Amino acid sequence: MNVKIQVANSSHEKYAQQICDLMYESAQARGTGIAKRSPEYVAEKINAGKAVIALDGDQLVGFSYIESWGHDKFVANSGLIVHPDYRNRGIAKRIKKRIFNLSRELYPHAKIFSITTGLAVMKMNTELGFKPVPFSELTDDEEFWKGCQGCRNFDILQRNNYKMCLCTGLLFDPEEEAKKEKKSGEARPFAKKIVKPIVKKRTSNKLFKK
Ligand SMILES: CC(C)(COP(=O)(O)OP(=O)(O)OC[C@H]1O[C@@H](n2cnc3c(N)ncnc32)[C@H](O)[C@@H]1OP(=O)(O)O)[C@@H](O)C(=O)NCCC(=O)NCCS
Repeated sequence: MNVKIQVANSSHEKYAQQICDLMYESAQARGTGIAKRSPEYVAEKINAGKAVIALDGDQLVGFSYIESWGHDKFVANSGLIVHPDYRNRGIAKRIKKRIFNLSRELYPHAKIFSITTGLAVMKMNTELGFKPVPFSELTDDEEFWKGCQGCRNFDILQRNNYKMCLCTGLLFDPEEEAKKEKKSGEARPFAKKIVKPIVKKRTSNKLFKK
């Protein structure tokens, strides 16, 4: 097994149908609904350089893509999928990291978010610096929330005026991250200051000189 994770390009367009089938079958097996993705939509993401694909030779192993919302203020890393034969080997983690880095490169100022009921995604996103937030902190772009229509819990979301549902919202805020980095950068000179040894020079006091 030699799984290669890479940013997808037009040579991978041929996998679009297989990717959609894999997503659909996995959603059926989990008993959840998913945002509907057509092979054309997936191909569009592949050709735009906004997707990450994992391949073992010619065999499709995994996939994830980027969507932007609210005039590029928000970005979602969506459609994470790993082929059942390749699960529990850290492949989703590698795809997540690559798609997260790609999102940061393409949209450096955007907040990155996801909504999920899955423990695996919660774990991976937390490691990348995501924080749990209420839906009010996520995009209010109607197009994004329309994607929930294919979910079996959509009536719950509607009933709650799109403010809460069974998914947990996870958010990575680049501004918060920059503030945190600045703070830890500032903390260093302070630490240096307090641990700097205080060496008192012994000076003779003429008054008490014997
Ligand atoms: C979820 C999924 C992508 C995980 O893929 P994977 O390659 O097996 O995941 P990894 O081996 O990289 O594991 C990543 C982390 O998630 C955990 N994890 C993986 N599958 C899990 C599961 N079913 N339940 C709970 N935790 C899980 C792993 O233990 C690991 O955590 P760790 O770093 O603390 O050890 C894969 O099972 C899948 O494609 N499922 C169907 C689609 C899906 O649910 N997508 C997510 C939509 S929100």
